[in-house]
Amino acid sequence: MTSPITVRVPLADRSYDVLVGRGAASHVASLIPAGVRRAVVVTQSGNPMSARVDPGVPYTVVEIADGEDAKSLATIEFLCRRFVDAGLTRSDCVIAVGGGLVTDVAGFAASVYHRGIAVVHVATTLLGMVDAAIGGKTGVNLPEGKNLVGAFWQPSGVVCDLDALDTLPEREMRCGMGEMAKYHFLTGDDLLALDLPDRVARCVAIKADVVGSDERESGRRAILNYGHTLAHALEIATDHRMAHGEAVAVGLCYAARVAAALGRVGDARVHEHDHVVGVAYGLSTELPQGLDPELLVSLMGRDKKALNGLTFVLDGPEGVETVAGVPEDAVRLALTQMPTAPSGGRARMQP
Ligand SMILES: NC(=O)c1ccc[n+]([C@@H]2O[C@H](COP(=O)([O-])OP(=O)(O)OC[C@H]3O[C@@H](n4cnc5c(N)ncnc54)[C@H](O)[C@@H]3O)[C@@H](O)[C@H]2O)c1
Ligand SMILES: [Zn+2]
Repeated sequence: MTSPITVRVPLADRSYDVLVGRGAASHVASLIPAGVRRAVVVTQSGNPMSARVDPGVPYTVVEIADGEDAKSLATIEFLCRRFVDAGLTRSDCVIAVGGGLVTDVAGFAASVYHRGIAVVHVATTLLGMVDAAIGGKTGVNLPEGKNLVGAFWQPSGVVCDLDALDTLPEREMRCGMGEMAKYHFLTGDDLLALDLPDRVARCVAIKADVVGSDERESGRRAILNYGHTLAHALEIATDHRMAHGEAVAVGLCYAARVAAALGRVGDARVHEHDHVVGVAYGLSTELPQGLDPELLVSLMGRDKKALNGLTFVLDGPEGVETVAGVPEDAVRLALTQMPTAPSGGRARMQP
C-alpha cells in the first residue's frame, strides 16, 4: 500500500491533516488526539468502510439512519445519549464514518457533547471527501429548512480512503463531480488531468486554502457557494428529486449566464462552463422540464446567503466573488437562456 497524500488545513492551533489515498482508513489512529481513551464510531448500516476503521482505543459503533430526515436534532440527542452509554468523557473522541450526512451530524454532536469533544472524519463519498468533511461546518436540518442549526467545529483529522469509492453508486459519484466542477472554476485547474488520488487531494487543498483564509465565512469562504444559488432553488422546486451535486452542475452553467447578463464575462466563458460541466465532467447542464421560472426566482431570493436582494457568487474579471444586488431582470434573462431537458428529461433524475 502506498502512503496517503497528506493535505494540511491551515487554521492556527486548529490546523489538521487530511489523508488521501487507497487504504488511508488504516491510518485513522494516527489522527486521534493524544489522551483519548475511548471512541464512538458513528456510521450508517452497511457502510463498507466502518469495518476498516480501527481507532487504536476501545470503541463502540453507533448507527444512524440514511437520508436527510436523519439529519435532525432528534439524531443529535440520540447520539449524545449513546456517547454517555459508551462512557465518552470530554477528552474522548467521535469518529464519523460516512458521507456528508454522517460527518455533518456526528460533527455537530461532537461539538455540543460535553461542550465539545474531538471528532475525526472518515469521508466515504466523493462529495464528503472533496467538500463536506473539510472545513468544520457541522449541523442538522429543521422542518423549516436545511442546515439551520449547527456549529463550526473543526475535526482533529480527516481520512479520504479512495477504496470507499469502489462501492459508491454512480449517482453519488456524479454529485461529487458537481462540486469538483465548481473547484475547476474557482481555480482554473484542470482537475481531470490528475489521477484520482491527486485530484481528490487537490480539491481538498483548494477547500483548505479557502477555509484557512476565512474559517467562519465572513467573506471569501462564500465563493464555495459558486453555482449554489440556483442549485438550492432547484433542489426545493424538484422536491429533492434533483440531488445537490446534480443541481450544482446546472447552477454553475446558470451562474455563468447571470455573470454574462451583467457584462462580467463574455459568451466564451459561458460556453466554457457548458463544456466543462456537460462534456468534461459528463454532468447534465439542463433545467428540468416544467419548473415555473417565477418559483425559481422567488426561491433564489430566499437563499440564506442573500444579504441585499438577490445575491450571487459570480465569475468576473477578478475571478469568482460574491455580488449583491443582482437585478431580477438579469436573473430572469439567464433562466430563459438555460437549456431545458426535453420532456421525459427526468430520466436523469431517478428517485
Ligand atoms: N459541512 C459541509 O461543508 C457540507 C458541504 C456539502 C454538503 N454537506 C452535507 O452533506 C450531505 C450530503 O452528503 P453526501 O452527498 O455524502 O450524501 P450522504 O452522506 O447522504 O451519502 C449518500 C449515500 O451514499 C451512501 N454511502 C456513503 N458512503 C458509501 C460508500 N462508500 N459506498 C456505498 N454507499 C455509500 C450513504 O449511506 C447514502 O445512502 C448533505 O446533508 C449536505 O448538506 C455538508
Ligand atoms: Zn455544495
